[in-house]
Amino acid sequence: MEIVVGITGATGSIYAVRLLEALKEKNVNIHLIMSHWAKENLKLEASYSVDYLEKLAVAVYDNNNLGAKTSSGSFITDGMIVVPCSMKTLSSIANGYCENLISRSADVMIKEGRKLVICPRETPLSPIHLRNMLRLANMGVKIVPPMPAFYNHPENIEDLISHHVMKLLDQFGIKQVNGRRWNG
Ligand SMILES: Cc1cc2nc3c(=O)[nH]c(=O)nc-3n(C[C@H](O)[C@H](O)[C@H](O)COP(=O)(O)O)c2cc1C
Repeated sequence: MEIVVGITGATGSIYAVRLLEALKEKNVNIHLIMSHWAKENLKLEASYSVDYLEKLAVAVYDNNNLGAKTSSGSFITDGMIVVPCSMKTLSSIANGYCENLISRSADVMIKEGRKLVICPRETPLSPIHLRNMLRLANMGVKIVPPMPAFYNHPENIEDLISHHVMKLLDQFGIKQVNGRRWNG
């Protein structure tokens, strides 16, 4: 599988770290794009380097490079995940603004009818944020915010993160065995 992963400057870069590790473990070819603020936040809140994340990918693209492969529908992929997704990038995608490679690549997913999964992160959510999410959901984009579940008795933060990563992988039919699913 070929999956584009866009990481933006919302808090929660650890979700992106764990997602990339899981995709790599499943032998998915990761096409990685990080925004400037994604890189800043990674430094600020997680003990992982940009270099570590880039090594998990088969290809890394500059967010300012609108001529990169993923900006064209002729580059075939299985879809894209934006995690975490800032309200700024959410707005850009919902409005087709395409000012950088992350939002252009997401735009390509929508126009080509490919899978697009967005993990928006903000609280509280304003009517602007909610309207943008609804606009995307109505186009078939999957809105999968990092909302922890407690029915599976998480013991630590890693459990909460891995449950969310499992929900993201589910969107692509990639089965995560250690995700602590609800079994009735
Ligand atoms: C520490 C930190 C945490 C942030 N958390 C959020 C957040 O949770 N959600 C959000 O929409 N923006 C958040 N921001 C603001 C975004 O980084 C900012 O809007 C930025 O322009 C997003 O650009 P990007 O989408 O291109 O990465 C945060 C910024 C910083 C410095």
